[in-house]
Amino acid sequence: MTSSNAAEPVPATLRVRELMTAGLLSHAIGVLCDLGVPDILDAPRTHEDIAKEVDAHPEGLLSFLRAAAAAGVLAEPAPRTFELTELGQVLRADDPRSIKAMCSLTCRDEFSRTWSDSLHTARTGEPSFAIGHGASFFDYMGSNREFASLFDRAMQSSAAVDNLLAGYDFSGAGHVVDVGGGRGTMLAAVLKRYPTLRGTLVDLPHVVGNARKTFVDAGVADRVTLVPGSFFEPVPEGGDVYLLSRVIGNWNDEDSLRILRTVRTAMRPDSELVVVGMMPSENDRTHYPQQLDLYMFALLGARLRSYAEYQDLFAQVNMRAVDWSNYPDSESVLRARVL
Ligand SMILES: C[S@@+](CC[C@H](N)C(=O)[O-])C[C@H]1O[C@@H](n2cnc3c(N)ncnc32)[C@H](O)[C@@H]1O
Repeated sequence: MTSSNAAEPVPATLRVRELMTAGLLSHAIGVLCDLGVPDILDAPRTHEDIAKEVDAHPEGLLSFLRAAAAAGVLAEPAPRTFELTELGQVLRADDPRSIKAMCSLTCRDEFSRTWSDSLHTARTGEPSFAIGHGASFFDYMGSNREFASLFDRAMQSSAAVDNLLAGYDFSGAGHVVDVGGGRGTMLAAVLKRYPTLRGTLVDLPHVVGNARKTFVDAGVADRVTLVPGSFFEPVPEGGDVYLLSRVIGNWNDEDSLRILRTVRTAMRPDSELVVVGMMPSENDRTHYPQQLDLYMFALLGARLRSYAEYQDLFAQVNMRAVDWSNYPDSESVLRARVL
């Protein structure tokens, strides 16, 4: 959010007010996504017309539409008439870059409550999620299927899969073990790209239990083994490649080292570990990695790590990072080997 009049400096009080109400803006965008407003904006429409189609109150909806227009995801080409801008296209479910599910997820009570309790994180260094929910984030997901399902859909709406396919060549591998692989979207995409590759998906029982359909839909189910379990317990041996995608970034150093030791134990000397995740770098053009670092810390007590910090982590488990493909503002792909 920036002021449009560059000639006159924005008073500090106004600028800080903008920052303090930025959370309202994210909720306004989340509400519009939940209502499906971006999905029906193929052409400019009046607020009354939009409200009728998405079953909302016209005057109530108007404030949300105007907040989104002030932020540039909608435009108001005529009074009370709105259209989707180029920026706002990514809020549509049918856009290939869609982050609609991520916007809905970010505005859920579970997150709002965590941010409200985050003074606890600042004072103690502990995550705040459990204060309002009585369980850690992943335990909570185990007993809240609707939230878990939205989380899975949000996870799919990122460049992680594309970055992995562009940044790592699986053609020399026969078997990939995806540890903490969620419902298998990433593994399914990899198996689809490499038709002779076999895959094993490891994740918590409630997650793996819902993964079969992903592989059936992708037409690769005959090449997949589903393994319910925890990466704090032994994981299957025999993989040429072990994948940890957006996993290590969810845990503090102590737990991350436990996960890496588990995986290292399963690896052969010639296996490779591939880590996919946000790794802040000097190439990042937005504040997003910094915000995500705060997000992960308040939610999970975890830190984003740079490539150099990953190297330090690997050194503690007798592994070494071999190289990485850095994707600015997005998930990078790191290769590591056993020493
Ligand atoms: C952020 S998601 C990433 C999913 C997937 N790898 C991806 O990149 O889309 C983290 C995953 O770690 C899984 N997870 C959390 N605790 C786990 C544990 N103890 N053992 C195995 N998986 C776990 C979660 O269920 C979730 O699927």
